[in-house]
Amino acid sequence: MSCLMAGIYKAYDKKMINPNIAILISGYGKNMEAIIQSSKNNDLKAIIKIVIANKDCMGIHTAKELGFKTLIINRKEMISKNSFEKKLLSILVTNKIDIICLAGFMEILSKEFIKYWDNKILNIHPSLLPLFPGLNTHKRALKLGMSVHGATVHIVTEHIDKGPILSQGVVRVFKTDNEKKLKERVSKIEHILYPKTISEFIKNLNNNQINDIDIEKSKNNEKNIDTLMSINV
Ligand code: GAR
Repeated sequence: MSCLMAGIYKAYDKKMINPNIAILISGYGKNMEAIIQSSKNNDLKAIIKIVIANKDCMGIHTAKELGFKTLIINRKEMISKNSFEKKLLSILVTNKIDIICLAGFMEILSKEFIKYWDNKILNIHPSLLPLFPGLNTHKRALKLGMSVHGATVHIVTEHIDKGPILSQGVVRVFKTDNEKKLKERVSKIEHILYPKTISEFIKNLNNNQINDIDIEKSKNNEKNIDTLMSINV
């Protein structure tokens, strides 16, 4: 990885007027669709340059049908995580990507890869972090009898699901809820929260408000942009 990264163009040294975004997915791509829609509405002032998946999935076909440049880098067909990331990095650099948006991208990225992007990788996670990092978040929230649940957009750091929180969306948990019903309501809030947060992230970045993120503090999930939203869905 390090030799590939040596001396290459770092797009984010400049102001990000209409930054280039890459969306990384692994599944249905509903968050990707919400980001695309927001960009089409001109609410999100960014250029979606490419959608990349780590396997063949529904979202990549949707992106293709919508006319976006797409690529599958099949992780299972790559010899190692390192070769997967090398390929991914070279594609991102070739496309002059400024910001990476993980949207249901189920791949753990290495410390080196994350460090290279210098706090410009965002992720959406289906829980109110720091509660329920990892998988099966809705099931676990129900099992613990939570009365609220939701989604979090955060900056990706080497500590999984522990990066600085940018925004959170909250939904109530009803007695009649099951995993499917709760997931549907959290998904609805995700599709509002993620595009809005990316948009605010770009604005704040240009105002130099989050260039100095203290990664040590981020271990405690301190908030850098506070856009907590609570929507009755
Ligand atoms: C979303 O619910 C997202 O929060 C979750 O995957 C789903 C992707 O759905 N992400 C994670 O669990 C990351 N740890 P989508 O493909 O329809 O956007």
